[in-house]
Amino acid sequence: MEKPRAVLFDAYGTLFDVYSVGLLAEQLFPGHGQALGVLWRDKQIEYTRLVTTSDDGAHYRPFWELTRAALRYTCKRLGLALGAEQEEQLMNQYRHLSAFPENREVLQALKARRIPTGILSNGDPGMLGVAVRSAGLEGLLAHVLSVDAIRKYKTHPEAYRLGTQATGLAAQNVLFVSCNAWDALAATWFGYRTLWVNRYQLPFEELGTQPTRIGSSLRDVLAFFE
Ligand code: LAC
Repeated sequence: MEKPRAVLFDAYGTLFDVYSVGLLAEQLFPGHGQALGVLWRDKQIEYTRLVTTSDDGAHYRPFWELTRAALRYTCKRLGLALGAEQEEQLMNQYRHLSAFPENREVLQALKARRIPTGILSNGDPGMLGVAVRSAGLEGLLAHVLSVDAIRKYKTHPEAYRLGTQATGLAAQNVLFVSCNAWDALAATWFGYRTLWVNRYQLPFEELGTQPTRIGSSLRDVLAFFE
């Protein structure tokens, strides 16, 4: 099979470690860090779907705002008193997420092969800009695509279409990489070649479609080019 001609990455959970906020959450709310991190993430994604599917997107709000709303909900749900200062600390941590350690070498290897790379994310442009800069990944990404341009979150097909438009390639010539099973699934449905990076030994979605390949770290991207 022909090699992909571009690689697009999901951001949160794929290039940037969202669960790293659990460490700070654990310091702020001992015994609840992990639950807070997981529920916060799930609620954040639920809100993206809620605003995309309801009323033709009339309730769209940028990812940063949905992330804050999800944090507030999560603390209420877990019975944790979230003060203004703690909220800012956690949001600030979300802004400066750590990147997974292998990212840089993989992006550099793709650049050396002249394969265009990019991010295709629910994150709004401000969040993505800070994340890319704090992870030192500027210069290694040809595209930083935010669904904010169309105000529809993944898994809306228009969100995935931003990648084919920006690269000028057909979906089957683009490799889409995500650690989120739902994202890898919907990108496969859209027509991308897909790599699901299963960092946490989770089962894939049970909806009948499989990603093109399953890997365990971003390094598995490079096997598509051998
Ligand atoms: C993103 C989220 C879904 O970056 O991880 O799009």
